[in-house]
Amino acid sequence: MEDRHVPPLVLSFPLRKLFENPYKILTPFVKRGMIVVDHGCGPGFYTIPLSHLVGEKGLVYAVDSNAKSIKVLEDKLRKKGINNVKSFVSRNINFIPSNSIDFLLSKDVLCCTVLHKESAEEIERVLKPGGKAFVTIRIGRGSDPRSLSAGEFFSLFNYIERKGSSKFHAWVVLHKR
Ligand SMILES: C[S@@+](CC[C@H](N)C(=O)[O-])C[C@H]1O[C@@H](n2cnc3c(N)ncnc32)[C@H](O)[C@@H]1O
Repeated sequence: MEDRHVPPLVLSFPLRKLFENPYKILTPFVKRGMIVVDHGCGPGFYTIPLSHLVGEKGLVYAVDSNAKSIKVLEDKLRKKGINNVKSFVSRNINFIPSNSIDFLLSKDVLCCTVLHKESAEEIERVLKPGGKAFVTIRIGRGSDPRSLSAGEFFSLFNYIERKGSSKFHAWVVLHKR
């Protein structure tokens, strides 16, 4: 059921950088020394910017259910000499301790899984009090059981600070109190 909508790797990088700037999205949330999670990291479009932003005293957990994506990410990390990323092939983040994470990114992942409620609960569980998360979904897959309306997506969370939606996307910023 999962992993079917991963874009071809060839499309996910240089072209994507033309219209999506990871640093612009991440900089308001991520500071040096933070412990962060890239939930559903794919081959690392956001993971590598996260590793730069947290710096050598910070840590990035990069988690994806697709072993091929994690392999591509690990090759990139090795080539770039990046050693503040711990990567995991996993469908969940239940190995991350509660209240331990400063920032979590989940970019277009909840719409690739049927585990909506479980994923949302885990995202909120791992955040520290004061921690933030940026969670997005793509909308509009008809009868696909993974698809969520914006309203269904918003109703999954307890700690919404800001939210928004368009015809194709919905997003929330969570701030755990
Ligand atoms: C649309 S891609 C987005 C990848 C990445 N976040 C990005 O923006 O480049 C969705 C990713 O979520 C992963 N995924 C799907 N279900 C997952 C789950 N339950 N746990 C972890 N990763 C999952 C897929 O393997 C895929 O890499």
